[in-house]
Formats: sequence, C-alpha cells, structure tokens
Amino acid sequence: LYSVLIMIAVAYLCGSLSGAMIISRLMHLTNPTEHGSLNPGATNMLRLNGALPGVLVLLFDILKGMLPVWFAYRLGISPFFLGIIAIAACLGHIYPCFFHFKGGKGVATALGTMAAIGWDFSALFSVTWLLAVLISGYSSVGAIVSFLLAPLYVWLFKPELTMPVAMLSCLILARHSSNIQRLFKGEEPKVWRKKKIK
Ligand code: G3P
Repeated sequence: LYSVLIMIAVAYLCGSLSGAMIISRLMHLTNPTEHGSLNPGATNMLRLNGALPGVLVLLFDILKGMLPVWFAYRLGISPFFLGIIAIAACLGHIYPCFFHFKGGKGVATALGTMAAIGWDFSALFSVTWLLAVLISGYSSVGAIVSFLLAPLYVWLFKPELTMPVAMLSCLILARHSSNIQRLFKGEEPKVWRKKKIK
C-alpha cells in the first residue's frame, strides 16, 4: 500500500510540471495562460507560439504521464490503482501545485498514462484524435471524440483496464466543459488560428 501511495504522490508531482509553463518561460515565449484559449497546454502553445513549442509541450506532457504509470505497471500494481495513479498525474496537470493550481485539460498527460500500459489502444486513440482534429479543425473536438471512445478501445485490447480508463475519460471530458460551451456558441478557436478569448 505504501508503494501505491508514494506512486500516487509522485504521479501528482510529475503531472504538476506544466510543460506549457516551463517551456514558455525557458524559451521566453507568450504565456499561454494570458492569451489564446488561456489554457496551458500543447494546443494553445501551438496556437500562440508555433509548431516547435507546441510539439515540445505535447511530448513533455505525454512523458510526465507515461513515466509514473509505466513504473507502477512494472511494479505489478493492480488495474484499479493504475487508474488512480493515472488520474493523479492528470490532476497534477489540471491543478499543478507548482503553478498556483492553474493547469490545463490533461489530454496529452492522459494519453501518456494510457501509452504506458498499451501501445495498441493508445495508437487507435491517437489516430482518432488526429482524424477528429483534421476533420473539425478543433483540438477540443479531437479530445472529446477520442476520450468518448477510449473506454471502448481499451475494452477491446485490455478489458481489465476499462473502468480506470472510463474514469480518466470522465475527468478529461468534464475539463472540456468550457470548450463544449464555446463550440455550441461557435466561439471555439481553431488549432491553427490565433484568436483571443475574452
Ligand atoms: O488539449 C486541450 C484541447 O483539447 C483544447 O485546448 O487550448 O483549445 O482549450 P484549447
């Protein structure tokens, strides 16, 4: 139990390392919490600062979710607690203790946690995300569609992880409520267009 509790804390701390905040400060770029969608994530970094910072943030946020779950998986921690560790990493990203608890939406971090336990359904998930983004032009639509389908994909490949991934999906979907409202109002910014939101 102690190792599980330590892994939960480590996952939360890893998640709290906001890729967007760290990279925007290191590279002296536009602060993503002050412009665009105001979200400190890869999409807003891409929107505001271009492809390279966007990709760097994406990779950083994927890795910080992947590492703690990968270690926990290898330690033989049960699927339920793997789910809790994955959620802890995403909660770190969403409420980062190092950045005044103002974080992002957890898409890349959640993808990292899933990639740590299975490449097959993570690849399917990523392709779904990419297709939905390319077709719609909205990063949030990619996230919403792919997280709605994530429990089904996991059920096909690793049924014992369906419940933890469903819990993760609920968290990420709930975090997209402002995007869903903006989509309905026609105010959601596209991935490649700069648009300030008041
Ligand atoms: O990864 C977050 C994405 O789904 C939405 O980002 O900046 O458009 O709110 P954003």
